[in-house]
Amino acid sequence: ATTLRGYADARGVRIGAAVADGPLRTESAYTTVLDREFNSVTAENAMKWDALEPSRNSYNWAAADRLVSHAASHNQGVRGHTLVWYAQLPSWLKNGNFSASELNTILKKHIDTTVGRYKGRIYAWDVVNEAFNEDGSMRSSLWQDKLGTGHIANALRWAHAADPSAKLYINDYNIEADNAKSDGLYNLARQLLAQGVPLHGIGFQSHFMVGGVPSSMKANLKRFSDLGLEVSVTELDVRIPLPASSAELAQQSTDYKTASENCLGVPRCAGVTVWGLTDKYSWVPGTFNGYGAALPYNESYGAKPAYTGLSNGVNPN
Ligand code: G3I
Repeated sequence: ATTLRGYADARGVRIGAAVADGPLRTESAYTTVLDREFNSVTAENAMKWDALEPSRNSYNWAAADRLVSHAASHNQGVRGHTLVWYAQLPSWLKNGNFSASELNTILKKHIDTTVGRYKGRIYAWDVVNEAFNEDGSMRSSLWQDKLGTGHIANALRWAHAADPSAKLYINDYNIEADNAKSDGLYNLARQLLAQGVPLHGIGFQSHFMVGGVPSSMKANLKRFSDLGLEVSVTELDVRIPLPASSAELAQQSTDYKTASENCLGVPRCAGVTVWGLTDKYSWVPGTFNGYGAALPYNESYGAKPAYTGLSNGVNPN
């Protein structure tokens, strides 16, 4: 059987996984699967601001550099995640009581430094992450509250100047369906494009509950693609109430197939990234009490039915 990356390469798209630094360093079973099956990687945490600049002006690039160099030596592209987010900010920044003008300077420096460091080595950046409320309005955050919605256009412009070849994304969750939140993003994306802001893509995180792939997903991705934007599934996982039954694992397989087809069947879909590889390392059980088993491989790196579903979704034949 062909691998996921074999199918994706043949189709000219990305099949990615979020990578945790711990197992990347220490677990050969992890890297074996990662390098055999995936042609793209995203740092699960290592490129977030709190990881990169834990104290002001003192950077820790070790884990991010490790992933970027791992990817280069295994012929994988890198999605950068993430530059502007309300969460995982270092405490010096969160608690610093900076003025708007100071925050503007701090944000620009962060983008110049981070995007500049990996210039030419990151094919897409989640420049802005999770900026919307469920009703489609802008979420309150350090950035939104002090700088207003204009911080999004500025961040995109700064990132574009720092690496003109990277595709620049706005990324969010619960925007897979045609709903109030995706409408809010759609309206902002149209405005940004009309203003000539370098926005190139929309990332649909796709953290689903088993059986929960929205029926409007493909049409919703297509309306963004019709604006001339790339679309990508950036953080796919499908959580199941534990213990998972065989019926739920079969439904999960269908969900992986449907979700990946919903993107890959739309013009300008750049690819699909899964938020992890193995149920051994997943954010799900720590966040959704009683849920887990969300990924294509089980805890001992056996391929689950979900792997077959994803494979069938990526393989066009
Ligand atoms: O690095 C510290 C470590 O020093 C400390 O000892 C330990 C104790 O709790 O925490 C470690 O940090 C944790 C970090 O993951 C690295 O493992 C944080 O507590 C933990 O909150 C953090 O969780 C991550 C979460 O984002 C944070 O918001 C998850 O791993 C990561 O999967 C998740 O990813 C997000 C995407 O970035 C955005 N979309 C949603 C997605 C899932 O929540």
